Amino acid sequence: MNKKTFGASTFVFPQPIFLVGVNIEGKPNFMTVAWGGMACGAPPMLTAAIRHQRYTMKGIKSGGSFSVNIPDEELVKEADLCGIVSGANADKVSACNFDIFYGKLESAPLIRQCPVNLECKVVHILDLGSHALVVGSIEETHVSESCLTDGNPDIAKIKPLLYSRGVTPLYYAFGSSVGEAFHIGNELRK
Ligand SMILES: Cc1cc2nc3c(=O)[nH]c(=O)nc-3n(C[C@H](O)[C@H](O)[C@H](O)COP(=O)(O)O)c2cc1C
Repeated sequence: MNKKTFGASTFVFPQPIFLVGVNIEGKPNFMTVAWGGMACGAPPMLTAAIRHQRYTMKGIKSGGSFSVNIPDEELVKEADLCGIVSGANADKVSACNFDIFYGKLESAPLIRQCPVNLECKVVHILDLGSHALVVGSIEETHVSESCLTDGNPDIAKIKPLLYSRGVTPLYYAFGSSVGEAFHIGNELRK
């Protein structure tokens, strides 16, 4: 397979869309983050790479907690708006008609319309350059009952929104399964 090189790139395909929530001056605000993911299993931790100048960073630094809300494909317009408008100039909660609730931490705003909500405590903020890597310990998780199968989260019902920067930056819907993890590889064992 011939290859073209691109130098030091950010080409990781696809990326999950997170709506990172904080309270700033007593008001909830959400920003779109595509550069996020799992970081540790025990204790459970995740990361979000956030540019230092984002309004949301103010809340992460001052509040010590944040939420990660996973939007479904129905929330594509809301997810995009949270990524193109700053909470410094607008009330995104009202523009998106988000129904806000609070959980265990009582400080990280959660979006009821998002099928999955994770409450996080800030444990590290690493300055990596253009972005700060915010590491959060996951303290509580909420999943919409309509997205469960046999009591467990079902990605086919969650329908998470995905993002990819290709020729054009686009949002994608989740596809279909192609094999059982930790199992199908056994077919290649000699
Ligand atoms: C699809 C998409 C993905 C984004 N991913 C990130 C990201 O990973 N990190 C980041 O700092 N900004 C990211 N942004 C930009 C912020 O979401 C945007 O600047 C937002 O307005 C910041 O909100 P705030 O000023 O209320 O904090 C993304 C925007 C979009 C549309």
